[in-house]
Amino acid sequence: MSRYIILLLSFYAAVCHGHKLRQNGRQFPEGFLFGAATASYQVEGAWNEDGKSENIWDHMTHNDPCIIKDCSNGDIAADSYHKYQRDVEMMRELGLDFYRFSISWSRIMPTSFPDQINQAGVDYYNNLINEMLKYNIEPMVTLYHWDLPQKLQELGGWANPHIVDWYGDYARTMFQLFGDRVKYWITINEPYQVCYQGYGDVLKAPRLNLKGIGEYMCGKNILLAHARAYHIYDEEFRPSQGGIIFISYSAQWYEPDTEKRYRCCRRSQPVHEKVAAKSAAQGFARSRLVELSPEEVEYIRGTSDIFGLNHYVSFLVYRNESVYGSYDIPSFSDDLEVGLYQKNEWLIGESDFTKVVPWGFYNLLTKIREDYNNPTIFITENGFASRGGLNDDDRITYYRLYLDAMLDAIAEGSDIRAYTTWSLMDNYEWMYGYTERFGLYEINYNDPERPRTPRKSAFMYKEILRSRTLDFNFVPEITTMTIDDGH
Ligand SMILES: *[C@@H]1O[C@H](CO)[C@@H](O)[C@H](O)[C@H]1NC(C)=O
Repeated sequence: MSRYIILLLSFYAAVCHGHKLRQNGRQFPEGFLFGAATASYQVEGAWNEDGKSENIWDHMTHNDPCIIKDCSNGDIAADSYHKYQRDVEMMRELGLDFYRFSISWSRIMPTSFPDQINQAGVDYYNNLINEMLKYNIEPMVTLYHWDLPQKLQELGGWANPHIVDWYGDYARTMFQLFGDRVKYWITINEPYQVCYQGYGDVLKAPRLNLKGIGEYMCGKNILLAHARAYHIYDEEFRPSQGGIIFISYSAQWYEPDTEKRYRCCRRSQPVHEKVAAKSAAQGFARSRLVELSPEEVEYIRGTSDIFGLNHYVSFLVYRNESVYGSYDIPSFSDDLEVGLYQKNEWLIGESDFTKVVPWGFYNLLTKIREDYNNPTIFITENGFASRGGLNDDDRITYYRLYLDAMLDAIAEGSDIRAYTTWSLMDNYEWMYGYTERFGLYEINYNDPERPRTPRKSAFMYKEILRSRTLDFNFVPEITTMTIDDGH
């Protein structure tokens, strides 16, 4: 009786304070898939071994090392090129259903084109894939995770419309080489980041900083290239190989900081009209936002079997007088005409990356369900950065709150089928080098053997995968990792 009253009171208190009552021991749906992700340049190392040619990250970090926070590069990184067996062992320790990794274009095609196939590179990915399949771990392969062959960059990279052909030829070769065993293909990882950060700004290679122009040229070509790979797979390979192919977007949540400003922003004109008008006023002969023809729109429409979603954090967004004129002209930010900020109270941990806003994840998933007719979603990245150390309680908090938010969306009907942590292990965090650590496993970069050690969060994730339950009462401890897959 008294227990019943306490429950009732706490429910009442929760409702009155606008908090939902957290259910504990929530189960994940039947058949839900769990994985972990990495990307080629961030973990492989072996940057010039066995016939691999230079990519844009090799080129940039070697020519201008100290644009990277710790002046480092991915020459060795986690050395996964040599340590793939240990990597698969870690997947087995965690009990992963799948592992998401990317293929290095210049490792397989040193000329960038299919005239030469580097057998050593093919062997590496075959070994990795076959080792995973031995233990029923499904490969999920990203074709492009930011390491463009340098030669293609010299030809303009994603700003050259011919890249639709180059990328299509590369994709076809990957389907031919690995598609008998790979059933999940991701065409492009985070097209917005590739184009905005690399072509419209200096935040990623190749740092072109062609503001308000480069990112739009890149954006058009990368979407068409994605669609090319999709059609090639759909027509030439799907009938015999039977997998799925999709694109992964990084979508953050943008919450209007007041209702009034939200209404103001929603009334604004369509983006292509707006950029066309701004371009004309700025003296350009045509819109900087390059247009897609009706045929191109049709070519792209429907070219993702599911919605691949990377998500990390949220922003508050506003538009008022202070926004106008505060950005470079022209630029993507000036075209957008909004201001963004985050609240200090969202921060946990030491890294600026680590704002924790689970309700933003929930709102994003809800909006995708409502606006896009409830597509099937794979969460292809979600994760938390620390500055290292095995006792990563903040990461545990982040993962639990975000998984809880995801379960809320699922309970309301969102069709989310898979969840991927970023990352299986520490890796090269682009412009931040090795200063930001996202791994469930810590890597000791001072040791040439690059030993991997499970963090506390690895034990939490293992328990979630074992029990298929989100249990906030489970207290993970760092003990000895075991492999429980029966092999
Ligand atoms: C614009 O909005 C931001 C965010 O709410 C606020 O900090 C700033 O003071 C506002 N500026 C003006 C001129 O209203």
